[in-house]
Amino acid sequence: MSQASKKAYITTPIYYPSGKPHLGSAYTTLAADIYARFKRLDGFDVKFSTGTDEHGLKLQRAAEKEGLTPQAYVDKMSGMFREIEPIMNISAHTFIRTTEDYHQKTAQVMWQKLEEAGYIYKDSYAGWYCISDESYYTEEELVDGKSPMSGHPVEWMEEESYFFKLSAFREKLLDLYDKRPELVQPQGRLNEVLGFLKGEVRDISISRTTFDWGVPVPNGPGHVMYVWIDALTNYLSVLGWPNEENMDYWPATHLVGKDILRFHSVYWPAMLMGAGLTEEQLPKVYAHGWWTVDGDKMSKSKGNVVDPETLTEQYGRDIVRYFLMREVPFGNDGDFSETRLIERTNSDLANALGNLFQRVLSMIAKNCEGKVPALGELDAADTEFLNGFKGMVGDVRMHIDSLQFHKALDVIWARVHAANAYMDAKEPWKHKKENPELMAHILRVLMEGFVSIVHTLDAFMPESMARVKTFLGTTDMTLNQIENADGSLLTDGAELPKPEGVFPRIQPKEEAA
Ligand code: MSP
Repeated sequence: MSQASKKAYITTPIYYPSGKPHLGSAYTTLAADIYARFKRLDGFDVKFSTGTDEHGLKLQRAAEKEGLTPQAYVDKMSGMFREIEPIMNISAHTFIRTTEDYHQKTAQVMWQKLEEAGYIYKDSYAGWYCISDESYYTEEELVDGKSPMSGHPVEWMEEESYFFKLSAFREKLLDLYDKRPELVQPQGRLNEVLGFLKGEVRDISISRTTFDWGVPVPNGPGHVMYVWIDALTNYLSVLGWPNEENMDYWPATHLVGKDILRFHSVYWPAMLMGAGLTEEQLPKVYAHGWWTVDGDKMSKSKGNVVDPETLTEQYGRDIVRYFLMREVPFGNDGDFSETRLIERTNSDLANALGNLFQRVLSMIAKNCEGKVPALGELDAADTEFLNGFKGMVGDVRMHIDSLQFHKALDVIWARVHAANAYMDAKEPWKHKKENPELMAHILRVLMEGFVSIVHTLDAFMPESMARVKTFLGTTDMTLNQIENADGSLLTDGAELPKPEGVFPRIQPKEEAA
């Protein structure tokens, strides 16, 4: 498994298809998409996977409720998660379903490797099981007799079970995170993981006999795998492991919600080490926060579940993508409100960015024959202004590599404001009559800056930026090309199409009422 420098593998969690996807599940996928698109723009060959986690008691029960077999039920439901790709404009290359044959085989190979290495043994198990979390808890862990994780009911279960020797990895994991703290981000989440590892780490039960909707345990008649063992392995199935063919994309960057951090940064690296992977081959995990809605937890019973489809139909995909990444620092919990979405769209997109583009492009259309105006001699202010854009590309890259999307957007907007200030200071309209070359030059300097803005924003708002690219007469460039270009990014005299506004103002709800 070599680690080729220009390859990346980005994953979303695989979703339980037990209801319609909502804003929360679309959020992880969106963040992963922006990261994947940005890496591609930065010259990386990217694998990006998402999918559905289709086994376990929760899905078996959901199917029973509808009078369907589990397979018929997940076949019906999984499609809705696939639909998130067009709904949010997601560029995943693989959508994996854990009921697919190739994945079930990989999960069995994982099991066998752990067993051969002596990390699996048989015993019996009794405990409080929460179906919603697909997790066992001890009496002490329960909060008011319910799951400490989700608050959902638990039921007593006793069964013969296989166990994974998680306890054998406690020291190794502590040592790993001591050496490579960057593997769990943000920092606060690493502290949570360390807190868990410093306590008593018990072996985990990894098979079930009380139901059969799961991957059969190899040579373990009557047992199906615990759904998390099956689910986590999906990240390797996607690359065809244990076949080496695509393993140069490995290790992955896993984007997950904070509720499933422990599975990804304790169980999963332990499994990988148990199956023979080295420390260098362990993945990076980034845990984000949760969305509430107008201050409340999103829930079906409250009827406040935000449907990504309704939202993008109403406001457009790019606006929703921008808002979700800009409003709340990735990693923090955040509150969703349509009022804020409208405010942000109007201030950041319609006023600051959209107006800037429109002011410059319509002046060019009117006064420069609709062609890319010629660049004259750069003065000190022009040079400083343009250098600011080269620096911006590096800063955006740094923030996106640490999944700080809101900081990346801050950096871009600082340049949007700088461009507005440059235009106000240079007043190109004043030179229209007596010095049209100077006017043309100022507009061209602004356009050069726009090329960098458009390319760094492309991952966030691909549709709008594709339109702006045509108005600027520019095609796709990698970020390296932009940073290393000596001189200009556009061609003097190239014909430009008639520009149109890209971000119209949205009428606030109270005005509409
Ligand atoms: N199937 C497991 C994951 C297995 S990965 C090997 C699972 N599925 S889930 O459908 O319950 O949740 C998937 C993701 O959605 C989690 O990362 C979770 O954090 C995220 N979200 C669910 N509700 C959310 C919010 N309200 N806000 C933000 N993210 C939320 O867990």
